[in-house]
Amino acid sequence: MERVTLRRLDDMHCHFRTGPLLTEVLPFTAQYAGRGIAMPNTRPRAILTGKDVAWYHDGIMRVLDGLLNRPTFEPLMTIEIRDNTTPEMIVEAQNAGAMAGKVYPLGVTTNSNEGLHNFSGRRVSRTFQAMQDVGIPLLIHGELDQERTLVTQREEVFLPTLLRLACKFPNLKIVLEHVSTKVAVETIKQCGENIAATITAHHLCLTLNDVIGDGIKPHHACMPIPKGFADRDALIEAATSGNPKFFLGSDTAPHPKERKECARGACGVYTAPVLPQLLAEIFEKAGHLDRLENFTSRFGAMFYGLPLNEGSITLTKKEWMVPNQIKSVVPFRAGTKLQWQLA
Ligand code: DOR
Ligand code: ZN
Repeated sequence: MERVTLRRLDDMHCHFRTGPLLTEVLPFTAQYAGRGIAMPNTRPRAILTGKDVAWYHDGIMRVLDGLLNRPTFEPLMTIEIRDNTTPEMIVEAQNAGAMAGKVYPLGVTTNSNEGLHNFSGRRVSRTFQAMQDVGIPLLIHGELDQERTLVTQREEVFLPTLLRLACKFPNLKIVLEHVSTKVAVETIKQCGENIAATITAHHLCLTLNDVIGDGIKPHHACMPIPKGFADRDALIEAATSGNPKFFLGSDTAPHPKERKECARGACGVYTAPVLPQLLAEIFEKAGHLDRLENFTSRFGAMFYGLPLNEGSITLTKKEWMVPNQIKSVVPFRAGTKLQWQLA
């Protein structure tokens, strides 16, 4: 096949950032996606309340409105759920347009220094209950930073918490974001329909060897950290299998080059500039290019109960070189060739 047409994508996990970086990165996603879920771990202002949601939405819309050929793109807004998030804040955020709440467990990733301490706390349990009652899905960065737990084990040790939540809130929609292990894939498969997982393009490409196996590669460093070969195989199988519990959430996470190439580099892989092109390559290699559209443009919408996007994008099979840097950020696969181009 030399051409692939896809319904405009739903990228169910994006870091659009704020300020000049927002202006830099948003046009890429808006070019091929009809919607993108905007993660709330922004700084200096995190998205915690209805007011924050409105402020962030305005900021995103201002950038979109400034683009030539204004693309049809809708940002889907979220708030961050912390220990002090109340049921009232959930209702207020929903009224302000938030469609999900995201939990970052304390200390597991970029900007999680004020993340959730305790998933079974009284207060947060009331908040989860409120989310279930008003129909706001819970998105989880599923890792725990425990004593004597290696970074490679953080996702696996989180899974019992996921199962407890699923049991306690049987009608709450939960998304385990950016799954990275075979055991997490198996766990999601065994859960009910209201539990799903997103998969990133970079976790379909990388193993831990690509991060620290041959020189330290800061542009491959991300959380959850890429794992082993069997894990990556399980992710490819899940993404290309046609199981609607697994859909695209790229976790495109730009950081300026100097924030990555330093002694304590930030975690995050910037895939937005190469996302559909790279996914076409991955699905083609797996022999399932015909299933790409389900993963990118159908299963996420179905899970969230959204209508499918209108409009389409076309990819053509033609080699191109990913630039070494795009404005302030180094994109994934910088300086290497990709097989598919966005027409
Ligand atoms: O690698 C990551 N970067 N993982 C996350 O969960 C957050 C993200 C970021 O915000 O940079
Ligand atoms: Zn993320």
